[in-house]
Amino acid sequence: MKSKFERINRLPPYIFSEINSLKIKLRSEKKDIIDFGMGNPDMQTPLHIRQKLKDTIDKPGVGRYSVSKGINGLRKAQAKYYKRRFNVNLDINTEIIVTIGSKEGLANLAQAITSKGDKILCPDPSYPVHPYGFTIAGAKLIPLKTIYNGEFNPKKYLINIEKNIKRYSTIKAVIVSFPSNPTAQTVDLDFYKELVKLAIKYEIYVLSDLAYSEIYFENNPPPSILEVNGAKKVAVEFTTLSKTYAMAGWRIGFAVGNKTLIQALTKIKSYVDYGAFTPVQVAATAALNGSQQCVEEIRQIYKKRRDVLIESFGRSGWYIPKPKASMFVWAPIPDKFNKLGSMKFAKKLMINADVAVAPGLAFGKNGEGFVRIGLVENNQRIRQAAKNIKKFLD
Ligand SMILES: Cc1ncc(COP(=O)(O)O)c(C=O)c1O
Repeated sequence: MKSKFERINRLPPYIFSEINSLKIKLRSEKKDIIDFGMGNPDMQTPLHIRQKLKDTIDKPGVGRYSVSKGINGLRKAQAKYYKRRFNVNLDINTEIIVTIGSKEGLANLAQAITSKGDKILCPDPSYPVHPYGFTIAGAKLIPLKTIYNGEFNPKKYLINIEKNIKRYSTIKAVIVSFPSNPTAQTVDLDFYKELVKLAIKYEIYVLSDLAYSEIYFENNPPPSILEVNGAKKVAVEFTTLSKTYAMAGWRIGFAVGNKTLIQALTKIKSYVDYGAFTPVQVAATAALNGSQQCVEEIRQIYKKRRDVLIESFGRSGWYIPKPKASMFVWAPIPDKFNKLGSMKFAKKLMINADVAVAPGLAFGKNGEGFVRIGLVENNQRIRQAAKNIKKFLD
């Protein structure tokens, strides 16, 4: 065959595949690998949500094609969530769409809005669909460093955004995602106020990915960009049930905000999908409308794991800053191994300590020097990992 797959060729080799192959190999040798590599929630979805799925699945008609933009009840439930959590009013017909997980929504929005020559400002390091959704769509990515001397500085970040907007004339959108995957960085509402000002001034869109809206540890819930007056002129925001209700496999997320962007996403999705399975959408509605006690319980599990991990790894000689939110710990490679780089260090850690982590490089070149540790193993396994690490570091 002479034909080339031009879009696919734009994507670099999948960096996790090396790590994954090693994991498979070691497991086949009967090694018990403690796996912090993926951000895949391990808790069970709360009972009342599973029960709602069971109750709905026997109803007539639910096996038919569903509604691409999401059933009315679910969009209403999302509007109520934004009202109670952020005091933001949303029109369920024009400002909310249900997505098959926020990853799908982000990737399809990139397809919907990218024109030839468009440039996108994207954090580096970042969750991969942020840059690669747009890479596939044909945009040029302008990576934005988020870490300065080992630390996140929102003011410098905003200055950097404006500098780049001025430098390049065809910026279509800027992507932000706080609490961040992988770095766990957070921002306050003032950051979004400044960002919305810039976006309105220079007429660019803002795509905010708020996947960790409910995974926070300090009585300081992450804000939504839509809390800023006038944000809807420029911003769309993605949320998901994946982490909030441990529903990652159910594939339900949302995009809300700017009508033009929601309309664009609605249109493209009406061509490429029929929406999530109706019983899943009904159960998702029950998740948002029901008691939120389960969310508090999930939050407390992550918080406890974070505390156990920071404390026990610290005692093993690996000092890591405590994240305020998200389900990740962003850990600098211990000094002794710094020269190795994150990929080699991650492999060494797996071979010598039976601990799998994600190399920072997998999230962009500015992720080098760090590894991402997902809070997806229980406290006992975290303590075991700390013991293994102590031996390894010693
Ligand atoms: C920042 C961020 N956005 C989106 C997603 C994907 O979420 P969903 O399951 O809704 O597609 C993740 C998953 O890890 C994430 O970390």
